[in-house]
Amino acid sequence: MSDPTGPRLEIRGISKYFGSVISLKDISTTVRAGEVTCVLGDNGAGKSTFIKTLAGVHQPDEGQLLMDGAPIRLHGPRDALDRGIATVYQDLAMIPLMAVWRNFVLGSEPTRGWGPFRRFDVATARATARRELAAMGIDIRDPDQPVGTLSGGERQSVAIARAVHLGARVLILDEPTSALGVRQAGMVLRYIVQARERGLGVVFITHNPHHAYPVGDRFLLLKRGRSLGDFARGEIDVAELTRLMAGGAELDALSHELESSGADQSVLRAAQEFEAQVNALGIAEQPDRPVSPAAPTPRAES
Ligand SMILES: Nc1ncnc2c1ncn2[C@@H]1O[C@H](COP(=O)(O)OP(=O)(O)O)[C@@H](O)[C@H]1O
Ligand SMILES: [Mg+2]
Repeated sequence: MSDPTGPRLEIRGISKYFGSVISLKDISTTVRAGEVTCVLGDNGAGKSTFIKTLAGVHQPDEGQLLMDGAPIRLHGPRDALDRGIATVYQDLAMIPLMAVWRNFVLGSEPTRGWGPFRRFDVATARATARRELAAMGIDIRDPDQPVGTLSGGERQSVAIARAVHLGARVLILDEPTSALGVRQAGMVLRYIVQARERGLGVVFITHNPHHAYPVGDRFLLLKRGRSLGDFARGEIDVAELTRLMAGGAELDALSHELESSGADQSVLRAAQEFEAQVNALGIAEQPDRPVSPAAPTPRAES
């Protein structure tokens, strides 16, 4: 009964209430293998509640989750992980003072020996981390350095590579680019593309349409817990996405106001500048071709 061409994860009419607060109301979207579903919304839109529902932290009050076409109930974060739903939270489940390679195998430590002689296989762990990071094109100068010394973008990248290595089928990323500068955000976007090309279904949470659009295949827009729409890439462009994010009609009124003052030109220039910088990083999508993961890795900023 599982349909290999169907969505890997389907969210059908999910609602979540906290007392009288409607955190999510009747939200639906799909996550397909080899695609990125972007969830966009301002503060308080319900993004965190949405991913916690997918990650097994919250039970939905209404609606249904389906995995590979079959209804599922997640009994907790461990249950979600066992089913291959991995979540990278903004504050990352990594230990800053531990080496990169040690963090990489956290929770999946290779062992050698048997019974009372079984122990952590350090050499294999080191080699695994090195190999897997290299396979994702992640250039960490020294895997022995503590995770705390990595840049924000590098840390997110290592977390993404680790989820891929642990065999995640659905990867949920909670605002991985929001605290980062343009180059660092570009680096993370490139690894999102990599995870997609490896066949994972990716859920990318962001409030920035310019981060979502270059990598997204589907866009779910949330506002105060409600859906403003769930669009396939071909159904919406970045201008419309930005307009909806900014409040649609409210923004139209604002832009009329700005037109007379000429301020909209500087906003437009800033947006164009950002887009040019993203393009320079080689992650912008060609209309009919997926992004090439083979482009050289950008050097990390300090
Ligand atoms: N555990 C909770 N208890 C009560 N209210 C909550 C809880 N979690 C979220 N909310 C409320 O749900 C709404 C959506 O919050 P959240 O999902 O964190 O939005 P976002 O991540 O988009 O900023 C907010 O009004 C928030 O106060
Ligand atoms: Mg949030």
